[in-house]
Amino acid sequence: MRAVILERFGGPEVLRIHGVSDPTPGVAQVRVRIAATALNRADVLQREGRYPPPAPKPGDILGLEFSGTVDALGPGVTAWKPGDRVFGLLGEGGYAEQVVTHERMLMPMLPGMSFDDAAAIPEVYFTAYDALVDRARVEMGEAVLIHAGGSGVGTAAIQLARAMGAGRLLTTVGSDAKAWRCLDLGADRAINYRTETFEDVVMAETGGKGADVIVDFVGGPYAQRNVNAVRTMGRVILVGLLGGARGEIDMTTWFVKRVSLTATTLRARPLEQKIALTQRFIEKLLPLFGDGRLRAIVDRTFPLDQVADAHRYMEENRNFGKIVVRCQ
Ligand SMILES: NC(=O)c1ccc[n+]([C@@H]2O[C@H](COP(=O)([O-])OP(=O)(O)OC[C@H]3O[C@@H](n4cnc5c(N)ncnc54)[C@H](OP(=O)(O)O)[C@@H]3O)[C@@H](O)[C@H]2O)c1
Repeated sequence: MRAVILERFGGPEVLRIHGVSDPTPGVAQVRVRIAATALNRADVLQREGRYPPPAPKPGDILGLEFSGTVDALGPGVTAWKPGDRVFGLLGEGGYAEQVVTHERMLMPMLPGMSFDDAAAIPEVYFTAYDALVDRARVEMGEAVLIHAGGSGVGTAAIQLARAMGAGRLLTTVGSDAKAWRCLDLGADRAINYRTETFEDVVMAETGGKGADVIVDFVGGPYAQRNVNAVRTMGRVILVGLLGGARGEIDMTTWFVKRVSLTATTLRARPLEQKIALTQRFIEKLLPLFGDGRLRAIVDRTFPLDQVADAHRYMEENRNFGKIVVRCQ
């Protein structure tokens, strides 16, 4: 099969197509013919060699999600048959024509769902669900601020917060064009962080109380600013470090407000936990794609042999939602 190999750590040019052996499914594993995969910001960090363990090494195949058709079954698999349309999360290996994964990591595609849309769903919705439901425990009517609203995870989190019955739903973005699109997704107010100070807008929008929940992808530079913008006994969930890992907090402000600071990561979790997340996604979130409350936001598609261009596009922050790569 053809696969994009990480030849060494570096710029987008280190991602090159090679011919490699077809993978063979083992016990309880399924081989999928991949129709599409999608990019995640983690792919860029992994390519640069800046991703924390468990990190890929030169010679590996990146790619954290896929859609496609079941192609071959390993011993003991009874839940799937060749030709089934499936999608799911991966630890690696999505930038290829085939992948082998555990049978319980597969999710059935809904009738009418396209391969492009299905590939764009797993990583960002699993992450948004973990942040908003498992960590933040958002309740009906609560004011939620989602940073980087135009990111893949941001577009998922805005929709999910709306579906959960959040109250005032605020987001930050770096352009007015992205701001308009976030309003379309269900945000009440999109704050252009280049022209507005988000803490001021959050206070104005919440009657001076602050947000109940903040989902942050920026990290260091927003550490203190998030504590300033959250309400007393509010929750700040750290999901990414786009702005850097180091920041300072005046602990008096955290202390006085009794703020909960927590974080989520997906990739480092053991297989059993990822299977549990997959099964819960099928039960809780998949139906919301069926009734239209949630949807995949695909910005652009690239062919597999242009995956380096897809990385450049993401690094220039040009995408709103997901960048999909077609693998056949
Ligand atoms: N914890 C987990 O398990 C997990 C899972 C998935 C993703 N993540 C993290 O979540 C974040 C988003 O991932 P993604 O794949 O959805 O990203 P993405 O689609 O590449 O979007 C990132 C967007 O964030 C904004 N941005 C970039 N740098 C920024 C900065 N310094 N300050 C403010 N905004 C900035 C840009 O939009 P603007 O034009 O609006 O600036 C950019 O388009 C990443 O940090 C990623 O590592 C974590």
